[in-house]
Amino acid sequence: MCGIFGYIGNQKRAAAIVFEGLKTLEYRGYDSWGIAVKAGNRIEIEKRVGKIGQAKVSLPQSNLGIGHTRWATHGGVTVKNAHPHRDCSGNIALLHNGIIENYESIKSELLAKGHTFLSETDTEVAVHLIEENMKNGNTFPEAVRRAFLRFSGLNAIVVMNSNSNQIIAAKNGSPLVVGKSDSGFFLASDASGIVKFTKEIIFLKDDEMVILDDSVNLFTVSTGKNLPLSYEHVDWIIEEADRGKYPHFMIKEIFDQPKVIRNIAETYADQIDDLAEVIKVAKGTFFIGAGTAFHASLAGVYLFSKIAKEHINTAMASEFNYLEDFLTKQSLIIALSQSGETIDIVEPLTRAKQKGSSVVAIVNSLGSTIYRMADKKLLLGAGPEKAVASTKAYVAKLAVLLMLSFAMVRKTSDAQKLLLEAAGEIRRLLSDENLEKLRRLAKELKGNENIFTVGRGTSYATALEAALKIKEVSYIHTEGLAGGELKHGTIALIEKGTPCFVFAPMDETHEAILSNAMEIKARGGKIVGISPQKAEVFDHFIEVKDVGEASVITQIIPAQLLAYFLAVEKDLDPDKPRNLAKSVTVK
Ligand code: F6R
Repeated sequence: MCGIFGYIGNQKRAAAIVFEGLKTLEYRGYDSWGIAVKAGNRIEIEKRVGKIGQAKVSLPQSNLGIGHTRWATHGGVTVKNAHPHRDCSGNIALLHNGIIENYESIKSELLAKGHTFLSETDTEVAVHLIEENMKNGNTFPEAVRRAFLRFSGLNAIVVMNSNSNQIIAAKNGSPLVVGKSDSGFFLASDASGIVKFTKEIIFLKDDEMVILDDSVNLFTVSTGKNLPLSYEHVDWIIEEADRGKYPHFMIKEIFDQPKVIRNIAETYADQIDDLAEVIKVAKGTFFIGAGTAFHASLAGVYLFSKIAKEHINTAMASEFNYLEDFLTKQSLIIALSQSGETIDIVEPLTRAKQKGSSVVAIVNSLGSTIYRMADKKLLLGAGPEKAVASTKAYVAKLAVLLMLSFAMVRKTSDAQKLLLEAAGEIRRLLSDENLEKLRRLAKELKGNENIFTVGRGTSYATALEAALKIKEVSYIHTEGLAGGELKHGTIALIEKGTPCFVFAPMDETHEAILSNAMEIKARGGKIVGISPQKAEVFDHFIEVKDVGEASVITQIIPAQLLAYFLAVEKDLDPDKPRNLAKSVTVK
């Protein structure tokens, strides 16, 4: 996680430039932030807890600065733990993305040598180790290189030195990019932070380090050997998101969904037909994703079984590392990701590629790490998703997977029709009347400590996703289950009035899930039925019209809306829930 931004050049506005860059990267972490600039021969640092939002920086003019937005891993959310961290001399400042897994042993060593630590972070060992390496006669770049080689884990560090007027960055696992323009050099944790300053970008590879001063010099960390520079000209226009008339990005993005689905239905047929051919020749295809994207993967497995009569495997990306021993050159991994930066996906994809397997990326972010590493790419085209809770990228993934499963049996046009119907039904679900109904339900449910969501088949994926959406923005414990699993244990938790959302589309799961609803109701549960058809067992009925297999898309909408209204009713920020980040780049 963590957003990183650095600037060195001919502008005296380093703090303002870094601040502006960090704002674009805040989706990577927003519990605290900090900026360091060179002021004379010293370094001045400003750090604060909380979102960078409308904050103002009061640092002196400078042409060299680095900054960081944090998502805490080691050490609580405090000003002391916010980056950048300084060495004992105060002339070196460092920020970091990742986890230095062996930090404890390095810290004991440095404490014994008299270094003073001010924070509880793993990061701080890095700056003191660099200082120690310099005391032992190494130049600044060599001290950084040697320090970086000692770290285990996936890390990126950025270090500035007010004596040598340099910024040095090194990476292994975590992304880093460098950009150049007439006003100087920029450094960021991903290209989206940099493209408004320059389109000439170097994407650093693992085991590379870069020195920025009057020029740019690139090295291999492990050997120290100089590397040629290869700038890529990116012509991406990163869409700026705007809330428009909506009070939050989450509700704006829920309202974007009909347009997103329509766009996929109307313009994706060719690329989806191509991808279907790739799946047909693969020997073993796996969908992988994390969180919401994993739920889309799971829905995809059911859709492929039902429509394409094809077996696809799925795994949570973070577990795929332990399931991939059987991958071969004929295997195909299809990674689903909104950000394209999730380390839990990047890591297994790297290993799969080493084994010669093919990789397809279905991502929303152009130029992201996963997008760049894939052999074949499909962009979701959902537009920027700013709310941490994913909504439109989820339905976009479902739309693509639905079309893909139909494309496998050469019936892409059937899927296109269903998707257009689904887009129409979502528009109906977003009517004022329906919104009011869900707002009232949120008022009724907001005091509950537990909610359950159940479904079978594709609706099992919906139940998991509904539970995730509700819990992450409302902080109400919500558990999603396959309908048949309840009686195997969890039904013990149902008490009088426990809300339970039952997803009951008109498919092969309809009758069985209504029986499960009866079992819950018999134990006092309050049933909220989401279905095309009212049933006696429902205490509340939310009608979602039948759109065949595309019902997997429409059924999630009431749950997204309810999650949003629960957050609003509880006076919480639905766009930036506590403890989360939009892009998850640590393991
Ligand atoms: C939940 C949510 C997360 C992400 C997950 C993967 O609303 O957004 O569960 O789905 O962190 O992120 P991406 O899709 O960026 O790989």
